[in-house]
Amino acid sequence: MDNNKITVTSPLLPNLDEFHEMLKEIWDSKWITNNGSFHKKLEAALAEYLKVPYVSLFTNGTLPLITALQALRITGEVITTPYSFVATTHSLWWNGIKPVFVDIDPNTGNIDPDKIETAITPKTTAIMPVHVYGKPCDTKRIQDIADKYGLKVIYDAAHAFGVEVNGESILNAGDMSTLSFHATKVYNTIEGGAMIMHDAKTKQRIDYLKNFGFAGETTVVAPGINSKMDEMRSAYGLLNLRQVDAAIEARKNVARQYVEALKDVEGISMFPYMLESFGYTPLSLRKGTGVRLNYSYFPIFVDAKKYGMTRDELYFKMKDQGVLGRRYFYPLISEFSTYRGLDSAWPENLPVAHKMANSVICLPMHHALTDEDIQRTINLIVQK
Ligand SMILES: Cc1ncc(COP(=O)(O)O)c(C=O)c1O
Repeated sequence: MDNNKITVTSPLLPNLDEFHEMLKEIWDSKWITNNGSFHKKLEAALAEYLKVPYVSLFTNGTLPLITALQALRITGEVITTPYSFVATTHSLWWNGIKPVFVDIDPNTGNIDPDKIETAITPKTTAIMPVHVYGKPCDTKRIQDIADKYGLKVIYDAAHAFGVEVNGESILNAGDMSTLSFHATKVYNTIEGGAMIMHDAKTKQRIDYLKNFGFAGETTVVAPGINSKMDEMRSAYGLLNLRQVDAAIEARKNVARQYVEALKDVEGISMFPYMLESFGYTPLSLRKGTGVRLNYSYFPIFVDAKKYGMTRDELYFKMKDQGVLGRRYFYPLISEFSTYRGLDSAWPENLPVAHKMANSVICLPMHHALTDEDIQRTINLIVQK
């Protein structure tokens, strides 16, 4: 790899010697997948770390979404956000469910609760919000709407590892939440993911579903899928759990430097909650206090007129200089060919999401960025 390049992310890797030791144990046991001892240990350790009652490990973060919809027998239409990674909406499509896109809140990037009710039809059975960039959705408002109309809520919490509100895990909201442990995430198992549920019966059902529906040697209770995490990745995950808090602290330090250097740059803006996280608190936005963020991404928004350069001009300028931001989430999911024809995908229905997608750049953000990397990135933005 080109050492001069600053990448948007970098995987958190366990200590190799410790990993070797665990691999030796796995080799000796000859138990390499199917609910082995490392798998069991990681489920228990994650439940404790994340402060949730039950965790079911998966082989990535897409299959728990698909499986949650199966387990809750969701059909018809599901209300969701266009401002996410495509897997959110794909999980609906794979279940034959029609996605109904609702616009987002400009202050958070999350689905706007004020716009959910008008999108509900007699076919609506659930809401699938995303805690985008790890910022918690307004879970109370969403639950109130769901209760009023008898809808299920499945949170795509792929970005929200370790995120808490007033000491409580955001993963306890809704009927189920799903996580991604992909290499690019705050916490990774190379590829991997998990589902969070509230009770033992649901955990049991999910464990069957991720193992072809097997409930015993000769009993298949449902048309399940294969989404089991193997022993190697479970061991890797146990080691990474030991260092994830330090990684989040390192990310927070990166975010602090970005906030301090960029908060007053004309034409560059960031989410109010990010400013608030470092004490730059507009009084009117104080209600977010008490959130433990994970600093999984650092999005900035470019106002071309005020900044004097378009988002893409800045993005490609950075790229030319070896600073690799990403335009997450551009294009919107509703712009991809599979979804573009849906009524709810019309740009007129999603003005905030379009504006955000057309102005965002996620800056390099990971635990291993040096002060020099951060300064190089900042300089490219400040010195036009
Ligand atoms: C919001 C969101 N949902 C789902 C996924 C899918 O996770 P995975 O890549 O582990 O399948 C990702 C990331 O990759 C994501 O960012």
